[in-house]
Parts: sequence; structure tokens; C-alpha cells
Amino acid sequence: MAAHTRPETKARTFGENIESDLASRFLRVVETAAIASARTMGKGDRRLADDVATQAMRRTMDNVPMRGTIVIGEGERDEAPMLYIGEKVGAEFPDGTEVPEVDIAVDPLEGTNLCATGAPGAITVLAASERSGLLNAPDCYMEKIVVGPSCKNAVELDAPVADNLKNIAKRMERDVEDLVVVVLDRPRHEKLISDIRDAGARIKLIGDGDLSAGIAAAVIGTGVHAVMGSGGAPEGVITAAAIRCLNGYMLGRLVINKPELEERIARMGIKDKNKIYEAEDLAPGKQLIFAATGVTDGSLMRGVRFFGEGIRTSSVILTLRTGKVRFIDSIHLEKGPDVKVRFA
Ligand code: FBP
Repeated sequence: MAAHTRPETKARTFGENIESDLASRFLRVVETAAIASARTMGKGDRRLADDVATQAMRRTMDNVPMRGTIVIGEGERDEAPMLYIGEKVGAEFPDGTEVPEVDIAVDPLEGTNLCATGAPGAITVLAASERSGLLNAPDCYMEKIVVGPSCKNAVELDAPVADNLKNIAKRMERDVEDLVVVVLDRPRHEKLISDIRDAGARIKLIGDGDLSAGIAAAVIGTGVHAVMGSGGAPEGVITAAAIRCLNGYMLGRLVINKPELEERIARMGIKDKNKIYEAEDLAPGKQLIFAATGVTDGSLMRGVRFFGEGIRTSSVILTLRTGKVRFIDSIHLEKGPDVKVRFA
């Protein structure tokens, strides 16, 4: 396949089979990025960790048969050498077989500091949809609440924290004291943290990575019952894609506190800066693919393990229309025919 050639073929729509086909190809994209960044774990260099993940993701993406457009990426064209917003990715088939039009949101390394310090929770991640299926969110903060399927419509962004926690506890048939809420450990969350403590819930403060925490909140058995607080808006859109595939519930509101952000959202056609978004607004696609691989160990995925002759990765692939949740444990036998495979 030749990358970046655009012969005159009609692009295929993003159909059911294509969702399944692309999902396995996107798996390879996030796995490759995870393996590259995991090699830098603990080097104390977050830029390096991010760069190698971005390069690996970009390289692998050009083997995917699609007309892809990056709608959330590493930044605007003038500030990011690759995977910038608007960049075209993917490959055409040389025989002119039609390829689908796909919008893609990437976070090549979510939790750059976590990888640089070897802390838990770093992942490589992307979400994809048919054209216009993912909100092109500006790079600003977003206030968020993320909960699981049993808590649909049980929380409100402007409700007192204690009320939200009471409602979550009721839906989850437990006491507020038994809930675990994940919050980014930031000075801006001082009041939120104090309100959660006053309400009696338990808190897990994280250094980075509210995206993977959000996914964990939508999966029973991870020990995470809600994520609250403000984090990146781009991460919010990617979280929303996963939340839709997992039947979870999410609310978000952009934090527009600078004139340049006002201009940016006006250019994007967002009229109401106080709009409260649900997952369906952030990731409205009829067809969605979410793919992530653990770089360091986390609640849902293990980190990359190198065992001398091979590499083991742990990933999750979610597809909306085909309704599949796949936890994938891959062993990459890269060192020839004598590599031994262990069960667990
Ligand atoms: P990086 O992947 O850029 O390191 O950021 C991770 C992250 O912690 C996100 O999970 C979160 O949404 C955002 O940064 C929070 O931003 P800030 O560090 O400015 O509070």
C-alpha cells in the first residue's frame, strides 16, 4: 500500500465490517506506540516518551487503509510536526479498492509524566469515527463527571458534590463511604477534594491520566466508581468515545477562561460556552472505535512487559455499532522461531 496517494476512487462508507476491520488495525497502532514509549519508562524525559509514541503511532497509521483526518492530535499544524489537527493519515489500496473516510482523535501517550517516572496509568490511545463523529474540542480544560452504566442521569455537573455522591451510592447499592472517586491531584481541586471528604467517600488522587480513570469508572470491578474534576478537553472527547461503547455516563463543560479560547470556540461554531455536553455530544458518531494499550500498569490494562525475546502488551478495543468490548493480551514474537510463549 502506498501512503498519501489519493487516486480518484469513491471512499467507502464506514460500514459494520469496516468498523471491525479497522479496530484490529488500530490495535496495532496503539500497541506499537505503547512498546516505543515503554522503552523510555523511568528516563525522566516526558518529551522523549511522547515523541517516540507519536512517531510510532504516526508510522503505523499510514499502513491503515483509510482516508483518515486527525481531529484531535498533538496540537495545531504549526506547533506539532506530526499528528497535528487536520493532518491526513492512512493509505490507499494500489488497486483502487475503496477505503473509508475516518476522523481520528489521538493521545499518543496519555500520562507522559507517568511514563517518565514509571508510575501507573500511562496509556496510548485513539478514538475513531465516521466523518464528524468526534467533537473537535479545543485544547483547554473541561469540567467532567464520569460514572458507570448504573448511574445514568444520576449526577449533575452543578449539583452539590454530596448530592451526586448520594445518588451514585444509591444506584450502586452501597454507602457513600464505600465509593472511590478519582480526582486529579491539582490545587484547583482543593474544594472538590474537601467536599468529597466531607461527604465521606474515599478518594484516589492521581498525578495524571483522567482518561484511563474515566474508562475504569465505566467498568465494574476496577474499584473506581466516579471521576470528578477538570482535565483536558481533548482527553474528554476520547473518554466520551469509550464511555459510549461501555454504556457509561459522562458530563462535561469546556472551561473557557481566556479571550483566545473564546475566539477558538467561535471559529468552531460553538455558540454556548457553558453548554453541558453528554458523551453523545462529545462523540456523536454512529460508529466509534476506541483503542488503548497500557504503557505502565493500570486498573484495566497491564503495562508493556519485555521478556528478552519478546514483548507482551495488554489492550482494550471497543466498538460501538458492533457492540464489542475486547481485552487483548498480545505476545509479540519478534525474535524468531525459538521464542517460548508462557500462558500468563
Ligand atoms: P499528558 O498526557 O499531556 O501528560 O497529560 C495527562 C493529563 O493528566 C490528562 O490525563 C489530564 O486530562 C490533563 O493532563 C490535566 O492537565 P493538567 O496537568 O494541566 O492539570
